Parts: sequence; structure tokens; C-alpha cells
Amino acid sequence: MHYRDHGGLVFIDLRDYSGILQIVFDENIDKESFKIAKKLKNEYVVSITGTVRKRPEGTVNINLKTGGIELLAKSIQVLNACEVLPFQIDEETEVNEFTRLKYRYLDLRSKRLKDNLIFRSKFTHLIREFLNNKGFFDIETPFLTKSTPEGSRDFLVPSRLNHGHFFALPQSPQLFKQILMVSGFERYYQIVRCFRDEDLRADRQPEFTQLDMEMSFVETKDIISVTEELFAFILNKLLGIKLERPFKVLDYDEAMDKYGGDKPDTRFGLTLINLTDIFIKSSLNVFKDNIARGGVIKAVCFQNGSIFLSRKDIDELLTLIKDFGGKGLAWTKVGENNSLEGGISKFISDEEKNTLIARLAAKNGDIIFYQADSKKVVGNVLGRLRLHLAKKYDLIPKGILDLLWVVNFPLFEFSEEEKRIVSVHHPFTHPAKNDIDKLEKDPLSVKSDSYDLVFNGEEIGGGSIRIHDPKLQSKIFEILSISPDDAKLKFGFLLDALSFGAPPHGGIAFGIDRILMLLRNESSIRDVIAFPKTQKAYCPLSDAPSAVKDIQLKELGIKLLETAIKNIKSE
Ligand code: AMO
Repeated sequence: MHYRDHGGLVFIDLRDYSGILQIVFDENIDKESFKIAKKLKNEYVVSITGTVRKRPEGTVNINLKTGGIELLAKSIQVLNACEVLPFQIDEETEVNEFTRLKYRYLDLRSKRLKDNLIFRSKFTHLIREFLNNKGFFDIETPFLTKSTPEGSRDFLVPSRLNHGHFFALPQSPQLFKQILMVSGFERYYQIVRCFRDEDLRADRQPEFTQLDMEMSFVETKDIISVTEELFAFILNKLLGIKLERPFKVLDYDEAMDKYGGDKPDTRFGLTLINLTDIFIKSSLNVFKDNIARGGVIKAVCFQNGSIFLSRKDIDELLTLIKDFGGKGLAWTKVGENNSLEGGISKFISDEEKNTLIARLAAKNGDIIFYQADSKKVVGNVLGRLRLHLAKKYDLIPKGILDLLWVVNFPLFEFSEEEKRIVSVHHPFTHPAKNDIDKLEKDPLSVKSDSYDLVFNGEEIGGGSIRIHDPKLQSKIFEILSISPDDAKLKFGFLLDALSFGAPPHGGIAFGIDRILMLLRNESSIRDVIAFPKTQKAYCPLSDAPSAVKDIQLKELGIKLLETAIKNIKSE
């Protein structure tokens, strides 16, 4: 409620969930109401009766939906007062996020957050409308369950009735949705909370919401098609956008090669170009030795980079590159007549220069950044540099919805940490049909029948065709060094189910919070979630997580470690 007092008249802006209406109190209409109105403060809750009228000439506010009218009040009742506010509603001024989250109910009164949540409600409503009409069934799956195979850390819930035993909150409904296929529900979906105890970032929350789907008797193309139809339907209804279909499709290898990652932002150039062959005989030992060790050399060419970057900016990049995991960053500027200047230019021969300039299509004023290391490090470092430059120098065109599929992921990768082969998605992902005979001899070259959906450089969904043949599943476990006993312990109930006439099936899950963040142009998923947690997985509103009474722990058969007790005492 905003308040303006003009002698004899009091104006307030009254807000409800749908917007703002100007109310006028006129001393000559009702003295008592006028007196109360004069004492109103921000965020008071009131009930007012009066007459809606056109605003007098010259006082129309075209920026407001209700700007052409006002309510001339006849009576007012104050339903509730409001304490002094910790921050002003709708003002984006320096209020830190902790305070906003502590008083989330006030923060949610702001137009931006309210609109985000109303948008969210419409979004999920449209998902349900579309999928219900397509014959999907909305089926709930348990929260108190066993560890699922997504591979993050689980949130555990101790069992009071079975001391020493724990439920895991599901990282996704993966196993249960597959079991529903075995039960004969050919099309399943659920808008469901998932729980993952992982390091948080702007696009991650410990609990987040997925649109989870699974279908029987389908191939990749069917899942891609129903997904595209779903997005086209929602974006058309919600934003009046006509999505171009089919979406772009990028091979995983190409994404890694050109963009240095499996969720490429293809709204701008700065692609990674391989120059390894050019530098085989380089006079720069770092380059030559790296190639001899089996490493690669790639570059990104920043068009007109000289306009954007000073020498100091380049020096800053050299420091930043270390945060990206690079040992250093080589660079040259492109001068007139295809010359190279600065940085490592004096180590580049004429022949090398001519070939690389042609390959990069480099022009006067461009800056070229080179990275020599293992293929993995080069991709990662230049991929991050590319995103950094695009964001910092505003190279990303606005208003684009860049939706693309990444397909042909490898089925496995080698984990240096665990010193064994691990699944890129999860162990139930079907290998690409043509690669099955390579499983035995060269498992790391096997591709999978899986797909990720990427939206403006964010991974918003992923899924796969699943293995429904118990023999093939055993083979995969063997390659993953999961013993039959271990497999039984972890996923036995799914494996049992698969042995009772499981249909071929596959599915996908989408991160609803991430999609909404992008559609609402927000930079954090916290802004599209009613009650999110901080980066430290803490809820300032409810003060959760918090310590519990000794008696509660005893009931659960749990004793705290010294370090935990110290931690509680230090609070
Ligand atoms: P995946 O693990 O790829 O697949 O998750 C699917 C999508 O969920 C979103 N997401 C997250 N969003 C916010 N915070 C998080 N911590 C978080 N983690 C993931 C992402 C991601 O693309 N069961 C499989 C799906 C399947 O195979 O059908 C699964 O969960 O947008």
C-alpha cells in the first residue's frame, strides 16, 4: 500500500495478488474513513468499499493496468497492521539474499517473484493438460526409499522402527518409473521433487522439481517428438511463441570438440578450432612437447577482440584461466595484412601463421587465444573461456530460445577418482544398438541410446532408452565392476521386476526450475522457487536444518560425533 496525502484527499495504492488499484479518500465524502486513511502505513491489510470511477483528465497512469480508474472510498476497515519492514517491497536495493529468504513472505509480495510463481503455476498446469490429453498417467512414487542411481550424494532419513537402517530421499523416481512400465502403465509422468546432496550453484538446489516421464515400446525418436510437441504447446500457450521444430541436434563428440562441453551455448560463435596439426613442429616447446605427449592445441578467435580487450584485460584472463583448470593461456593479436602481433607471435612461423589464420578465418583486430594440454583440459578451459568472454563482452544475442538435443553420448567413461569405468548417465542406459558387440573389447568406445536437451547453454533435461534384457544388464554391471551381489543389494528390486516380462521402455526428465529460470530471464533458480535454500543448503525462513533433542536421536538409535556436538555448541 502506497500513501500520498494531498490536503483534503488521501491517495493510496492498494495491492492484491493481481495488481494495484488507486484508492481516493475524500474528506468531504466520509470524515471517519479519511481519518483512518491518514494513519495507514505500508503493507497494512484493509477492506474498503466505494465506487469505481474514471480518473480525472490528466491523472491517467498509462503504465498501470488499472491506471485509467480509481476507487472513491466510502468506508474502510483495517484488518491488520504491519510492523516496520526489514526491506521495502518491490525495491531491488542492496538487500542481501539471506534477509530476503528470511522474510521470504515479504519478498514474495514483490511483483517480480509473484509473477514468477504465477507463471510457474501456469507452466505446470499446461504440462498436465498436454500429457493428460496424450494418455499419460500421473502416478506418485515414494520419497522414503532406497538410493537411486543418479550418482550424487543421498539425503538419508533414519528409520525409528529399524535402528541402523536409513531411507534415502530419491535423487529421481528412476527405478520406480521403470517398474511402472513393467506394471503395464505405458505412459507415465510426474511433476516431482528430487533430492541431491551436491555442491550448490545458481542452477542447483538440494531439492528441485523434475517433470519425469517414461514410456513403453518407444525409441529415441518418439521421446524426442513428444518432448518437442510438449514444449511447442506450452511456449505457444504461455508466451505466444511458435517454436521451430525439429530442434537442432548435435552429436556429443561435436559438442565437446567445438564448444568444449556437453551443454553448448550455440547462440554465439567463439567456437574451439583444432590447430594441433599446424603446431607439430612448433618452435614453442610447450606446444611441441604437449603434442608429443598426445595432447592437443586448440584456439578460439575473438572477433574484433582488440576493441574489447586492453592489455590489462588480457593479463586478467591469464589469471582467470587458472581457475578454469588451465596452466596458462597463449594469445596473439591479428594485425594488418594477416600479421600476428604480441603474445606468442614471435614463435609462430609464417607457414604456421598462414594456415591458422585461414582456418580461424581471423581478421585484423581479432584476438586468438590458444590452449595446449590434454584434450579434456583444453576443451574444459577454452569452453569456459568462451562463455566468460561472451558474458563479459555481451556477445550473446537477446531474446533467443536456443533449444538443442545432444545425442550419441558415450555409455561409459573412466573415472580417475574411482579408477574404474563408470556410467555417463546411469547403469540402466541402453547401449547404441550398433555398438553392442564392442561392449566386450572396447567398452569406452560404446555410445549410448541417450539424449540431453539443452536450452541456451543449460542442461534442462536428459534421458535414455533403458535396458530391459537381464543378460545385457548383467554384462553392463560386469563392465562397471558392480558384482552381482552388489547389484542385487542396490537395485535388486528393479532387476527382479525386469525379469518378469518387462517391455522395452525409455524416458526423460526435465529440470522444471531451470526451464523457468531461463524463460523468466532470471540468473538463479532460487528466483522461481517459493521457498529455496541458500548456497549452503540452509533455509533462513524456517532455520532448517537445525539441531534436534537428544530424545529424538535416541529414538532413532543415533549418537552424534564429538565434531557434530562441537558444531552445535558453537552456534
Ligand atoms: P538427470 O540427473 O540428468 O536425469 O536430471 C534431469 C534434469 O534435472 C535437472 N537437475 C537439477 N535441477 C536443479 N537442481 C539440481 N540439483 C539438479 N540436478 C538435476 C537438470 C537435469 O537435466 N532419472 C534421470 C532421467 C532419466 O533418465 O529419465 C535423471 O534424473 O535439468
